[in-house]
Amino acid sequence: MRSRSPRPARLRVIGLSCCILGVLGRQGTGVAATPTEKTPRPLEIHAHRGGAGLAPENTLAAFRKGMEWGADALEMDLHVTRDGKVVVIHDERLDRSTDGRGNVADLTLAEVRRWDAGVKFSPAFRGERIPTLREVLELVKASGNTRIRLDLELKYAPDRPGQPEDFEERVLELLRQIGFVERVNVISFHHPSLFKIKALEPKVRTGLLAGGQQAPLDPVALVRQYQADYYSPSVRHVTAGVVAIVHRAGVPIVPWTVNEEAEMRRLIGLGIGTLAGDAIVTDYPDRLLTLLKASR
Ligand code: G3P
Ligand code: CA
Repeated sequence: MRSRSPRPARLRVIGLSCCILGVLGRQGTGVAATPTEKTPRPLEIHAHRGGAGLAPENTLAAFRKGMEWGADALEMDLHVTRDGKVVVIHDERLDRSTDGRGNVADLTLAEVRRWDAGVKFSPAFRGERIPTLREVLELVKASGNTRIRLDLELKYAPDRPGQPEDFEERVLELLRQIGFVERVNVISFHHPSLFKIKALEPKVRTGLLAGGQQAPLDPVALVRQYQADYYSPSVRHVTAGVVAIVHRAGVPIVPWTVNEEAEMRRLIGLGIGTLAGDAIVTDYPDRLLTLLKASR
C-alpha cells in the first residue's frame, strides 16, 4: 500500500493559519459585549458550569459572569431533589462544591439550600446557594439577553437511588412555563434521555455527550441513533479525523472542557468553528474571547 507523504511543514502552517483566520476573521464579540448584542460569533463560546474558572460553578454568580463575558451559552448540570425540584449542581453529592454533605436526591430543596455554594471557591462569594433551574431561567430572562442559550446537562443515572423517571418531563415543564423551549441545548451522557426529550418536544435542541477512555467508534451513527443535533465529545477524543467525519455528516462539534489557549488553538486549527453550531466549552470564557479578539 502506498503511504501518503507527509505535508511539508510550511503547508501545514499555512493550512492551520487559513483555518484559524477563517474562524476568527469573521465578526466577533467585544469584551464589552452587551446583553442586547445580536451578531453571533461563528465559533460559539459555551461557559462551562457558567464559567467555573471565574466564579463558583453552577451558581447565579457564575451565570452572571458568563453573560458579562458575552458567552453564547451557559452550561449547567441538573439533578432532582427528594421533593422533586430541579436544581443546578454538578455532583450527585453536596460535598465537593458546597460546605454541606449528602446526596441531593436524599434532601429536600430547603435542606439543599442551607449550604453555601460559593465560599469554597472564594470567601468573596460567600452566600451563594445551589440555584434551582427555575431561578437560572428567570435570571437569564430578566437580564434581557435574548441571544444566549443554555446547555442543560441532565445528570441522569437510572440506577441511582432516588432518580425520578420523569426527570425529562420536569425539565420540559419548566422550559415551557418560562418560555425557554427554543433557547436550550439539552445534553447528556445518558443518551436515551436525549431521545426522550426530542420525542416529548422536537423543538428542543440536543447534544450527545461522549467521554470516558474510549471515543465512540462511530459518533455520527450515535448522533443519528439518538436524534441529537450535535456531537459533544471530551476534547481528548477530538482529532482531525473525527472533525472531518462528523462535519462531513453536517453535524456540529462541541468539545469540552477546554481551558488552555494552546488547546483552543489546536481545535480551531482542526476546523472547529467552520460549521454553524460548533462551539468550545470552557471554564474560562474570557480566555477564549480574548483569543478570538486578538486573532481578528
Ligand atoms: O459540557 C459537557 C461537560 O460539562 C461534561 O462534563 O463532568 O463537567 O459535566 P462535566
Ligand atoms: Ca456538565
